[in-house]
Amino acid sequence: KLGAAPKTILEKIELAEGIVEFIVHAPHIARAARAGQFVRVLPWANGELIPLTLADWDAEKGTLCLVVQGLGSSSMAINRMQVGDAFAGIAGPLGRPSVLHAYGTGETVVFTAGGVGLPPVYPIMREHLRAGNHVTLIAGFRNDSLLFWTRGDERIGKLQQRYPGLLDVIYTSNDGSYGVKGFVTGPLEELLKANRQGSGREIAEVVTIGPPLMMRAVCDLTRTYGVKTVASLNSIMVDATGMCGACMVPVNIDGRLVRKHACIDGPEIDGHLIDWDKFLPRFNQFSAQEQASKRRHGF
Ligand code: FES
Repeated sequence: KLGAAPKTILEKIELAEGIVEFIVHAPHIARAARAGQFVRVLPWANGELIPLTLADWDAEKGTLCLVVQGLGSSSMAINRMQVGDAFAGIAGPLGRPSVLHAYGTGETVVFTAGGVGLPPVYPIMREHLRAGNHVTLIAGFRNDSLLFWTRGDERIGKLQQRYPGLLDVIYTSNDGSYGVKGFVTGPLEELLKANRQGSGREIAEVVTIGPPLMMRAVCDLTRTYGVKTVASLNSIMVDATGMCGACMVPVNIDGRLVRKHACIDGPEIDGHLIDWDKFLPRFNQFSAQEQASKRRHGF
């Protein structure tokens, strides 16, 4: 495997319907990667550049773990690629690494992950655990058919075994088919309320990764409790160099609207500063082209 050409897919695991984990040979990126960073994948010549936050990496083996949800025509086509196929290009690691503080075990860092927000959350959580912080993961899925990494012998379970007593996990599903019925904001609000009443570990910060509406709901909730919240944004990106403006994030700083860019200022941005009313429509900026592309490619 170590002799494989860079960018070759070494393993492919179907995690759930439409969600695929790829292990890709990319030794230079694997050696330099830090938690919270992303790569830009060019699946094939003249293809669309896809930003993917690193789900994991192995510096020794020279591999990256990337999880792709087939939503648009490019991601659906990527998910049809097989072991032995190679991407045309992978650039990275890109973006600023997560900023970690040592809180110890008296406080907890709460991660709220929605669906395929779980893979990018994983390495950031692991870094907090390595640093000796207590972590609470609230991971939400639409229903139990979309679960992955949740069994005892999978990544989250293994983390719990490796750091006993340091990682609490709460699962939610929209329909109640797994874990707590409802959204990640339900258990989060319970933790926040308990905090306010002086019980439970104090929440040092909240990190949220997932669908934009979920991240907004989490930020709105934590704002009312005054708890610092970081949103890791999976914005639409084109050049990933801060030049094209595709990933622009409108941010309010001291009453002024400032343009940040997820590709160079993020992907992590203070969720309470984001102007979500202006930001959310940006996720649909290319939806007409996306629908046309899907039709063209027969998806
Ligand atoms: Fe172009 Fe960020 S992707 S500015």
